[in-house]
Amino acid sequence: MYEFENKIIKDGRVLKEQFIPSRIVHRDGQLKVIRDNLRPLLKRQQPRSMFIHGSPGTGKTCISKYVTEELSAHVSSVLHCYVNCWLYPSTFKILFSILQEFGVSMSIHRKGTPTDELFDIFRKRLQDRQCVIVLDEVDQLEDDKILYDLARMENVGLMLISNDEHALGGVDPRVRSSLASVDTIHFPPYSFEEIRDILRDRAEWGLLPGVVAKAQVDWIARVSSGDARIALNVLRLAAEAAENKDREGISDEHIRAALPKVHVSEKEKATERLNEHQRMIYGIISQSGEIKPEDLYPEYEKACKKNGVDPIVDRSVRKCLEKLAQYKLVLAKGEGRWRVYSVGKEAAGEGS
Ligand SMILES: Nc1ncnc2c1ncn2[C@@H]1O[C@H](COP(=O)(O)OP(=O)(O)O)[C@@H](O)[C@H]1O
Ligand SMILES: [Mg+2]
Repeated sequence: MYEFENKIIKDGRVLKEQFIPSRIVHRDGQLKVIRDNLRPLLKRQQPRSMFIHGSPGTGKTCISKYVTEELSAHVSSVLHCYVNCWLYPSTFKILFSILQEFGVSMSIHRKGTPTDELFDIFRKRLQDRQCVIVLDEVDQLEDDKILYDLARMENVGLMLISNDEHALGGVDPRVRSSLASVDTIHFPPYSFEEIRDILRDRAEWGLLPGVVAKAQVDWIARVSSGDARIALNVLRLAAEAAENKDREGISDEHIRAALPKVHVSEKEKATERLNEHQRMIYGIISQSGEIKPEDLYPEYEKACKKNGVDPIVDRSVRKCLEKLAQYKLVLAKGEGRWRVYSVGKEAAGEGS
């Protein structure tokens, strides 16, 4: 039998993206506001719902999971559930996953059960309990009416999360008014020092002592443009490369090799998650190099015909373009009628 002894990585889980750290580094202000908004739950009162927005890698997902787990550990009567709306965009899927998380054993025929029925089961489950529901990437919801229904439910606190600060701007006025008292919390990009501290903390837990130099951590922090996900992925890939080559420490070359890989895989991940319309539009932009929105629509209609799907309206196509730009898959240049979209250098992940 072979025996392997790690020389670099102490605990690989700690370096993974989904890992919820046992302590949050910085973000004290946001943590306090979120905890204060949820505090009424301790007295069985209605919590204040929140809308959390900020660029990718600013800790929105990790902190919302951290705080809700902390709360449930404190008060076991409070349930919590995290749903990523990119994975579960429909009302049915969201309610279904909430009920599953809340341990409701259901004889639900996955497709046949109407959502009203799921809402009723949900209400019953909450008769003597309270809950916090996190809807991450809330801009991906298929139908925003679910926000209206959830916001009006007693015993439910909502944490809505998006990269897009205007995610709730386009919702139906009735939905918006039901969300009028929602507390908006901004997660700005991290400073160099904050990223450095997050990296140092994770290196301490995840790596063996002395395998990465202070100057290397600083370097990674500097090139991560305030995005903790990029920073941690660079550190993880560099550490894995050093481990695989049976080195005693992480070299600068391991870090240099990890940098472009992180950007490419971020992009791959984003394209995998596109829906079919977003994918067609992205395909057209990639092929044409640079395109104006008005030239894009006819191409998009052709693609729909070819794929046998009904096209979405022009306004939704524009919204979709904004989304692709926001996820840095395409580059938007110019304003108003001069605006063009391309799969530019930065959008292709080669920038900075
Ligand atoms: N303040 C923080 N302290 C510790 N780890 C953090 C912090 N902020 C982000 N991270 C880590 O950085 C990565 C990206 O954060 P995430 O919450 O997924 O960002 P977002 O949801 O804003 O895109 C995650 O692995 C997370 O654990
Ligand atoms: Mg997130």
